[in-house]
Amino acid sequence: MGHFGLAKHPLYHTMVLPRLKSGDSLLDLGACLGQDLRKCVFDGAPPDRLYASDLFVEYEDLSYELWRDRDTFPNRFLADDVLSDNDSFMQGNLMMNLGPGQTDMIVINMFLHLFDYSNQLKVATRILRLLSHKPGSIILGSQAGVVEPIEQLLKPPFDKTEDGRKRTIFRHSPESFTQMWEDAGKAAGVPLRPITCEFQKPEATEASAAGVDTGLEAEEKKPFTADDLFSKEPLTRPKILLQSAPETGRLHFSVVRS
Ligand SMILES: C[S@@+](CC[C@H](N)C(=O)[O-])C[C@H]1O[C@@H](n2cnc3c(N)ncnc32)[C@H](O)[C@@H]1O
Repeated sequence: MGHFGLAKHPLYHTMVLPRLKSGDSLLDLGACLGQDLRKCVFDGAPPDRLYASDLFVEYEDLSYELWRDRDTFPNRFLADDVLSDNDSFMQGNLMMNLGPGQTDMIVINMFLHLFDYSNQLKVATRILRLLSHKPGSIILGSQAGVVEPIEQLLKPPFDKTEDGRKRTIFRHSPESFTQMWEDAGKAAGVPLRPITCEFQKPEATEASAAGVDTGLEAEEKKPFTADDLFSKEPLTRPKILLQSAPETGRLHFSVVRS
């Protein structure tokens, strides 16, 4: 259970686990099969105030099948679409069942980098609205990062939205990520402490990782990396992240309410 994303965050042992053990709530947004929440329980956190949310309602049952903990892990799966229109989001599972201003810690691991800039800003603002009003409430996680921020077109067949528009995703530098959250804080009316966002320290990187793991299956034997998703058009740099391209890596971040 040592290799899940949240446990690699610098604040996992020093802040997340102690606060969970003292009763804080935590929402894992884009939780997939709930692996990070199971890791928290494995490390001694009480399960009662852990919430998972994802676009796909099927993950709820699948995660119980995978972890075989239907009888012990409370049902706190709130399927929702963070990109839905405003009315749907305000009446959706997260806002109705968790509620605005309620959650002490929100984890977004390998999540925001799925979206283009305007959608990232929209989702960041929504996340801030879910965050507890208590000073010290925190949003934290990790995602793929670059030194030079770029709105990047994806490769076919990922390059089109369902309605046929070009699909891009915004790849952040620490600076652009920080700026986006400052803008989101202003838009949501949430005061923030100085934002922390930095590349994962090289010594903490797994020796075997040939890139930022996107979680997708590889067709070949080599690991599937974020670069395998991108259109080659504007790019001339090496294909593999981390090992041969020092301008890319995993960002760890925390956004704290003041
Ligand atoms: C790359 S996975 C990250 C999973 C997990 N957090 C981790 O670190 O391994 C991104 C997750 O975001 C979810 N997702 C994608 N678009 C979403 C949306 N619009 N609303 C909610 N969840 C979404 C996906 O279903 C997927 O489970």
